[in-house]
Amino acid sequence: MTTHATDSTAKRSIAGIPVSSIGLGGASWSLIDTPDWPVDDKAGRSDEEAVATIHAALDAGVTLLDTARVYTTATHPGHSEALFRRALASYPDTSDVLVTTKGGHYRSGNNFPICANPEALRSDCDASRALLAVDRIDLYQLHFPDPAVPFEDSIRALAELRDDGWIRHIGVSNVSLPQLEQALSIAPIVSVQNHFSPLDQGDREMVDYCAEHSIAYMSYSPLGGGAHGAGRTALQDAFPAAAALAARREISLQRLALAWLLSLSSTMIPICGSSRPESIRDSALAGELELTEEELVELDFGSAA
Ligand SMILES: NC(=O)c1ccc[n+]([C@@H]2O[C@H](COP(=O)([O-])OP(=O)(O)OC[C@H]3O[C@@H](n4cnc5c(N)ncnc54)[C@H](OP(=O)(O)O)[C@@H]3O)[C@@H](O)[C@H]2O)c1
Repeated sequence: MTTHATDSTAKRSIAGIPVSSIGLGGASWSLIDTPDWPVDDKAGRSDEEAVATIHAALDAGVTLLDTARVYTTATHPGHSEALFRRALASYPDTSDVLVTTKGGHYRSGNNFPICANPEALRSDCDASRALLAVDRIDLYQLHFPDPAVPFEDSIRALAELRDDGWIRHIGVSNVSLPQLEQALSIAPIVSVQNHFSPLDQGDREMVDYCAEHSIAYMSYSPLGGGAHGAGRTALQDAFPAAAALAARREISLQRLALAWLLSLSSTMIPICGSSRPESIRDSALAGELELTEEELVELDFGSAA
């Protein structure tokens, strides 16, 4: 068997800032009070466990943390950003940690409106600066294009926040390729956060575009999603060859899937959700997993493309 490492062992970077190849996302701790989460899946998800999971991620070398204004419980505005702030404040050294957040999308009860006009983005960004206790947010992302607002107005608003020193770099999320190109014509865009997983590979053109243009591609819900515990089970039935390979190598199918995602592009950074420390510890090891060429052919994640 030829031994050939994929580039999955490489560290990644966003706008030249070194980050771990696996990121930790903070949506699930704050959204578990929505109807999407089954009752038995909500057990034991206290803020203390969330902080322990963030600390486990940092211990495991994860240096990219992703949050958003909309990641909040119905009753505690700013829940996720406040959790990250609390976790970072109680960790010895966070100098190499990049915390990214997103604006233009908020929670009202169990509704999740998009509002990305310039005033709303400025107000969201200011609230995030306060919640994260920073003067300048290193990477601030437009969460969704707002159909009620010209896209260029949202991007120009982010460019103004950058000019004002409130944010260092601009990212976009849930965008199409034409929207990314439009955004790039207005301001430097350093990252795209879109959905991509073995189960949904519809954004492949964007993945390749980002690699060609040295833009970080942060794949969200890379394991199938946090709601209904999908990420714990969804891959198993869909990819029997990959499941067999994971069993043979005595690793989780999730870790194998993340390593495969990393093998697709040098700018791919999967953003994983974890409510338990053991999940992110396991996922973080994907960055060190070497796959042979034969194994990459054997696993059937590509069959869903
Ligand atoms: N930009 C956007 O619009 C957008 C939308 C959705 C998500 N996101 C971002 O993407 C992040 C992750 O998304 P997500 O939580 O929906 O989906 P996900 O990462 O695909 O799935 C999370 C689920 O996978 C399980 N899991 C994680 N690692 C595992 C491992 N090594 N072994 C077994 N199970 C594992 C988790 O289990 P446990 O909970 O038991 O640990 C959880 O149930 C979010 O937190 C957020 O930052 C962004």
